[in-house]
Amino acid sequence: MEGSRSTDGTSFELLSRLLEILREENAFNESGDEPVVRFVQPEELRNRMPMDLDEEPATKEEIETAVRQTIRYSVKTTSPHFHNQLYAGIEVYGLAGSWLTDVLNTSQYTYEVSPVFTLMERQVIGKSLKLFGYPQFPEGDGIFCPGGSISAMYGMAVARFNKFPDVKRKGLAGLPPLACFTSEAGHYSITKGAHWLGLGTDHVYKVETDELGRMRPDKLSSAIAEARKQGNVPFFVNATCGTTVLGSFDPLPEIAAICKKEDLWLHVDACLGGTLLLSEKYRARLKGVELSNSVAWNPHKMLGAPFQCSMFLTKGKNLMHETNCAGAKYLFQQDKHYDVSWDTGDKSLQCGRKVDTLKLWLMWKARGTRGLRESVDTAMHAAEYFFERIKNREGFRLVLPSYECCNICFWYVPPSMRGQEETQDWWNKLYRITAKIKELMMLDGSLMIGYTPLTYKNHGNFFRMVVTCQPPKTEASMDFAIDKLEQLARDL
Ligand SMILES: Cc1ncc(COP(=O)(O)O)c(C=O)c1O
Repeated sequence: MEGSRSTDGTSFELLSRLLEILREENAFNESGDEPVVRFVQPEELRNRMPMDLDEEPATKEEIETAVRQTIRYSVKTTSPHFHNQLYAGIEVYGLAGSWLTDVLNTSQYTYEVSPVFTLMERQVIGKSLKLFGYPQFPEGDGIFCPGGSISAMYGMAVARFNKFPDVKRKGLAGLPPLACFTSEAGHYSITKGAHWLGLGTDHVYKVETDELGRMRPDKLSSAIAEARKQGNVPFFVNATCGTTVLGSFDPLPEIAAICKKEDLWLHVDACLGGTLLLSEKYRARLKGVELSNSVAWNPHKMLGAPFQCSMFLTKGKNLMHETNCAGAKYLFQQDKHYDVSWDTGDKSLQCGRKVDTLKLWLMWKARGTRGLRESVDTAMHAAEYFFERIKNREGFRLVLPSYECCNICFWYVPPSMRGQEETQDWWNKLYRITAKIKELMMLDGSLMIGYTPLTYKNHGNFFRMVVTCQPPKTEASMDFAIDKLEQLARDL
């Protein structure tokens, strides 16, 4: 059997060797003594690792070399010193779920081809609805989908269908110009969604934020009034819990009150900050989330479920189905021999849909809500420790006086720039030096922290340190990042 599946008799051998190879190449090393990255420029990487695909099959040795090189030259998000993105690491049960999903290689759209995953998805969505204070199925509903950006578009599509059901048949021609609202710190997927849904990016009103990066409700009200004055019909507000850069939480009770008064759909982008709901200590930061109409949560971000693990939740019985259904007869036959209300495919935008449920289900099952909660508290403790350590430390300069999520943003002023007048030229130099420190970090390979400008606050480059649940962060890993930064920038 195995022989017949393999071109040269080695493919199953490779599978059984893979775990060994991953271990030998230190792919699971969470100790921090392996480089986070072995950075080489693209041309050089192409020389070292030929990417050509040939007419003839590769040899067993060539395949193993390619596998080893893939591991070697990939970024080790599993290192405790990877702080570059909003995701990281691998949770071992999640990884087992991910591998199992891929072995079983099926689509999530019908019970017929996904009996176990259909029940699992309902279970995980149900637990998540509860977490967000939403009603259970069928009044509450949800779906795993490919990422927070797609979730935002689900929110916009459902909101628009809810207000203008004819849009599905008649398209935009029958509609007045629509307007949507998000803060200037909101994720750019709202702008992309406005394009894809035909609203036009000019119809996205970016609402001003306060000094902590939170949407200002008074500015939301004035933006709504302004949109109406310009002849647009407001229909959708996106509020964020855990903004991408600063990790800020918009004031949901005030925003929800405005949405209620103005009859607007409130979608909450809790892709990052939704994970705090698992913690007794931090869940209050999402106060009012239960008042929203829909929400996006990405357990692959802070929580550390394997990438990609993302869900969209909404209120409204049958609303997702009515918004998205196309009634394909070859998949969603109504005369099947089981209860077809279990088929989830027609409420999805996609046809085939990757199973993303099992990795989170298995993590949750194996560690319990308690285990997940503890991992959130551990990550937040590490983020707070990092913040406390750099707060008054020479050379470090915070972008905000306090942070609400797992992102800490700061500048690092090297010794040669300290004690000088902070003119615009001085700041411009600091912005260039930030990029330089990042370059040194990448070449050194021992630490990865991202940097970004923030144009709406008139800030040039600064570092964004992200502390996620996987691998669990310690005070020692935070100390390492501080020491390393100081060391790398010492002579700049
Ligand atoms: C707050 C927030 N929302 C949404 C997204 C988009 O999520 P995705 O990358 O899964 O599309 C991001 C991405 O980083 C984000 O930070």
